[in-house]
Amino acid sequence: MVATTKTGEGWSSRSAFILAAIGAAVGLGNVWRFPTLAGENGGGAFVLFYVACVVLLGLPLVLSEIFIGRAGQTDAVGSIKKVAADSGVSSRWSVFGAIGAIAAFLILSFYSVVAGWVLYYVGVMGADLMQAIGSGDPFRGALAGESQEAIQGRMGDLFASPMLLLAMHFVFMGGTLYIVARGVHGGIEKAATWLMPAFFALLVGITIYGAIVGDMGDALAFLFTPDWSRLTPQAMNEALGQALFSLSLGVAGLITYGSYIREGHKLGSTSAAIAVADTSVALLAGLMIFPIVLAVGLDPAAGPTLVFQTLPFAFQSMPAGALIGFLFFVLILVAAITSSISLLEVPTAYGIGELGLRRHSSALLFGGGAFLIGIACLLGYNVWSDVRPLGFWPLFAETDILDTVDGFTGKVMLPLGALLTSLFIGWRADRKLVQQTTGLTGGMFALWRFLIAWLCPIAVTIILVTGLFPAVLGG
Ligand code: PHE
Repeated sequence: MVATTKTGEGWSSRSAFILAAIGAAVGLGNVWRFPTLAGENGGGAFVLFYVACVVLLGLPLVLSEIFIGRAGQTDAVGSIKKVAADSGVSSRWSVFGAIGAIAAFLILSFYSVVAGWVLYYVGVMGADLMQAIGSGDPFRGALAGESQEAIQGRMGDLFASPMLLLAMHFVFMGGTLYIVARGVHGGIEKAATWLMPAFFALLVGITIYGAIVGDMGDALAFLFTPDWSRLTPQAMNEALGQALFSLSLGVAGLITYGSYIREGHKLGSTSAAIAVADTSVALLAGLMIFPIVLAVGLDPAAGPTLVFQTLPFAFQSMPAGALIGFLFFVLILVAAITSSISLLEVPTAYGIGELGLRRHSSALLFGGGAFLIGIACLLGYNVWSDVRPLGFWPLFAETDILDTVDGFTGKVMLPLGALLTSLFIGWRADRKLVQQTTGLTGGMFALWRFLIAWLCPIAVTIILVTGLFPAVLGG
């Protein structure tokens, strides 16, 4: 039997919740953004600082968000109001639930566009694999006979075609909407229990492949040998922001997923499982990608195109590159969809809990809205390429539409959501309620309280300020 919460939804087991939450956390952030940033910021020192951010700031915030959801048992805004009422403080704190829901909605809009690129590459590599099989050489390298320029040019061709971008965005958003409309039990949970094991199998398989055919020694050295001079304030700022993004923090995603938990979970160990899994996947993704990139002598600092332009070319000279390249993009797509459903679930739950909408209508309203904003993002690569939505703001003066939505949510909204969460939990929420619901006691509770009440607000304020006013960094 499935326990139900106020919204009438619930996970069928503890492991179902953990899988779904890991599915939400593990996404483009791990397999695309993390390797990109680690590469751009010189590897080692960035990676170690990132891990410190996850342990000291991310983990306490994960537990805080799950606690709010578990205690509130409804959408993010309603859950915060409930905890506030039970703690005898103002219900206005619920504003960070609303900020989170708006951030999730905005992130979804460009997330679906980027996932659309992945979908396109699944198609490109899939067609190439079919051809390899047809030609009787299924284990040949990827995109045989194509020059490096031609392979890299594929991304430019995609970006120049609004129709192609739109079609991919449409299919991905449609899939996300379909799963969310089916509900927590029949949609989100089912997707996670099928897709996450497939994801892990692919990840481990391709990493082993990379270790055999690629240059694992160089990759390990690149990822884990710190050169502290590369750890600039800008890099630290990016690492902190990436930790929030990757753990899905500040968008009320874990409040929403936490609200579907039934009695009796150990929230501390559950939170640790989520943070450990998310970080391991990011590191493994690095160990999957860099041996291949380095073996071919390509540049690990290629930036956002690393995965789309550098890797397909690397797969050309790899044994079975056509097959592995195809599986690689399938893996990213799987990671993306279990995250996008969590992004859509946040505003959808808000619509159900606060606006009284039915699930289908709420998912359609917010999924459709994000789809429209996504169209603006993808047009920013072609017909609207000189539009600068926040051009009046020096920080975003040169930024196209997609990067503006990404930058504004990542640099402003997520840190703000995380800051308010830590202040609320650290200073306002009733201590007994927190202890009872989380099951934390003694030294663990004291440590968590210290991190959430002191370290998080201070560190997150630093991200906000340095993110918004790069001049402070002297940059
Ligand atoms: N954590 C996801 C990723 O790494 C992105 C995400 C952010 C998902 C916020 C949900 C909420 O790709």
